[in-house]
Amino acid sequence: MTKAPESGVDDRRQRTLVQMMQGQAYRELAAAHIFGHGLEFVPEMRWLKHFTWHIREELEHYEAVARMYHDFTGESIEPVVNARLAARPVPLPASFYELAMAQFLYDRGGFWQLREYEECSFEPYRKVVRKIVEEERGHQSLGERLVVELTLTGRYNADKQKLFERWLRQGLLSFGRPGSEGARYALAVGLKKRDPGAVMQDFLDDIASAMYLCGLTMPPLATLGIEGPEKAPAPPVSGPESALPRTERSAGQPAA
Ligand SMILES: [Fe+2]
Ligand SMILES: [Fe+2]
Repeated sequence: MTKAPESGVDDRRQRTLVQMMQGQAYRELAAAHIFGHGLEFVPEMRWLKHFTWHIREELEHYEAVARMYHDFTGESIEPVVNARLAARPVPLPASFYELAMAQFLYDRGGFWQLREYEECSFEPYRKVVRKIVEEERGHQSLGERLVVELTLTGRYNADKQKLFERWLRQGLLSFGRPGSEGARYALAVGLKKRDPGAVMQDFLDDIASAMYLCGLTMPPLATLGIEGPEKAPAPPVSGPESALPRTERSAGQPAA
């Protein structure tokens, strides 16, 4: 199915890299579908410009991963990604508020998940990831501001917890299963930095301030069908600075 392994890339590492690329490509095209679908709910020119720019960047992320996959395997990634999207479709937003929630939590999950590959021992993956991470930093921080701003109007009180949980689950699905044999292998050969459990915890801590501002509560992850750390998120910081995403406050610091 694939080109002969590069010198120095053994079969297990080759298969792991193929899986990583396929998973990332799926998440990028899914993001383009989510935000593209949500465009009809966007009420103002300034946000329309933002979301169309965002969709374009998701497509560029998909294209970058697809190019890397073709260079690595000699094959197109598109049939694999299309089949996976058909088998595991992502939810599509049904309102502007839900679109904002998706941008906040789906992209924030992707941002934290990708940071684990910033020092990936496979150089082409590392290069692609670094470009994507910088763009995702902007997407999800804007999503958080929008969610907080819309929630504080009080107009979404009836639906906010349900929509939060739907997109929290989608964000958490980015990380994979904690403690798996595959995760241990990827760590051992330097493809990623930490086990998914530790990364999930950072993600949960990172969204705690916005949750608090919005009057949202963290459900037990098992009720979302997610296996992960069950530690409660850190107490939110009070005061106006808590509206700032931690990813901006801590930009440049190592995630480990
Ligand atoms: Fe992306
Ligand atoms: Fe994004």
